Formats: sequence, C-alpha cells, structure tokens
Amino acid sequence: MQAKRLIHDWDHPVNALVVGATGGIGLALVRQMLDAPQVERLFAVARTTSSNPDLLMLAVQHAGRLTLLDCDIREEAALAHLASSIKASVPALHLVINTAGILHEGARMPEKSLASVTLAGLQHAFAINAFAPILLAKALLPLLRHTEPAIFASLSARVGSISDNRTGGWYGYRAAKAAQNQLLKTLALELTRLNRRSIVVALHPGTTDTALSRPFQANVAAGKLFTADFSAAALLQVLAQRSPADSGGFYAWDGSTIGW
Ligand SMILES: NC(=O)c1ccc[n+]([C@@H]2O[C@H](COP(=O)([O-])OP(=O)(O)OC[C@H]3O[C@@H](n4cnc5c(N)ncnc54)[C@H](OP(=O)(O)O)[C@@H]3O)[C@@H](O)[C@H]2O)c1
Repeated sequence: MQAKRLIHDWDHPVNALVVGATGGIGLALVRQMLDAPQVERLFAVARTTSSNPDLLMLAVQHAGRLTLLDCDIREEAALAHLASSIKASVPALHLVINTAGILHEGARMPEKSLASVTLAGLQHAFAINAFAPILLAKALLPLLRHTEPAIFASLSARVGSISDNRTGGWYGYRAAKAAQNQLLKTLALELTRLNRRSIVVALHPGTTDTALSRPFQANVAAGKLFTADFSAAALLQVLAQRSPADSGGFYAWDGSTIGW
C-alpha cells in the first residue's frame, strides 16, 4: 500500500504534524508522508526527536521540509511552546496525527488484575493516553481553525472499546483510551463549528510490531502482527477516505467502525 498522494481530493500543499515520531508507527508515518510531494512541511514531535538517528538522517535529506521538535506532550507549557514554534513557520496545519501512547514503561507494566491497580499507575496511563491528546488539540487549535481542510487524528486502541472488552485486564490503558475517545468525540463537535471542513477521528492501528506491543506478542495469531509500515499506510488510507461527516468516529486500520 503506497500513499504517494496523501489526500486525493486536497489540491493544496499540506502542512502536517506527527506526534510520537520516534515510535514504530510514528516513524513509519513520517517516512510515508515525506514520500508524498503534497506534504510541503512536516513537523515530527516526540520527547527525543533530536537524538533519534533515523529522524536526524531524514531531516538532512528533507532539509527545509522536515522539522524535528522535542516536546513532552503531557506538559501544557511544553505544548504552548510547541504551538508557537510551529506558528512561527506555518500559518495553518492540515493534518495532525498523534501516535504518542504508552502501554508499559520501565518497570511499569499494564495491570493483569485488580490487585495491581494503583493511583500512580492510572495517572501514568491517563496522562499520555487520555489527557495529552486533548491538550495537544487545545494548543494547536489556532492552527486548525481555518477555512481549509484539517484532520486531527489520534491513535486509540481497540482495547479502549467498552463494548469490545471481553478479556479484562489492562485497566489503566483501556480506560485511558476510552477516555481519549470521549474527549476526541467532544472535540469533533466543537471543531466542526470552528472549521466546517475539519475531521477528528480516533484510530486503531491493529496489533503492530513495535516496542509498545513487543512484550505481548506471544499470543498474537500468525499473520495478525502488522509491520509498522503496513499500519502506517493503512491509517493514511483510512484518513484519505474520511469526510467531515465522519468526524467524531472511531476507525480501525481497515476503515471499519469500532463500537464505543
Ligand atoms: N503497537 C500496537 O500494537 C498498537 C495497538 C493498538 C494501539 N496502539 C497505539 O498506537 C500508538 C503508537 O504506538 P506504537 O506501537 O508506535 O508505540 P511506540 O513505538 O512505543 O511509540 C510511542 C511513541 O510515543 C512517544 N511518546 C511517549 N510519551 C510521550 C510524551 N510524553 N510526549 C511525546 N511523545 C511521547 C514516544 O516517543 P519518545 O519516547 O521519544 O517521547 C514514541 O515516539 C500508541 O498510542 C498506541 O497506544 C498501538
């Protein structure tokens, strides 16, 4: 699957932003978006873009087109600084894809049972998987509020679907992604009023071979573990097929709708 022209019915140059650009899916999105001549400017954001060898090489190859910005998107002051840096370069953003998310970090693993649920663990999961995406949207609002098309997509997860929860466990991650979905739906309704060509969506990338899923891949059926390149291409395809009428939806990598 190739995404040479990212959004086929957009005929203007695209200013885009990928958050989580050092991650498996985020880096694949950055590469594929740089392959699209339609993308005039691309901002790649994560906490560690400035020390990521792949991004540093891409920034040299695409000098003037790719900008690396370090930002911890859980921090409101850092988000304000990020937004003003972007505003200094471009008047508007057309495509924002947030892939930042955490399932495990250091010794912190998702809860297998109620006994391992802690306030600190829940706050950790919510800070990045629920609160950060909506704070990102708030910081970027002046760049999304215009008369051109604007997509704000954020990676959720099928395990955040309450109706699809059949196995339990992973309390914090599941609940944080469910909360993100509600925050995005609410954003979709408000952004429609500020930019009638806006599209806000939550996306499920499918189980993808990245650092996030690596400790949990043993139970994934053969052929069901996607490469990051496959997921990124599929997600770009899903976005290309959306219209403002789809804003507020929760979509899987194959374009199907996921129940809340
Ligand atoms: N992989 C899967 O199977 C799967 C399945 C369903 C949903 N998802 C979702 O898909 C998204 C991408 O996952 P992935 O597999 O690509 O994960 P990944 O490889 O672990 O990448 C996560 C990215 O998030 C960034 N990040 C984490 N905390 C951040 C913060 N505070 N501020 C800014 N950036 C931050 C990381 O960069 P730095 O460390 O440099 O900040 C990294 O770029 C996540 O939201 C995940 O929940 C993944």
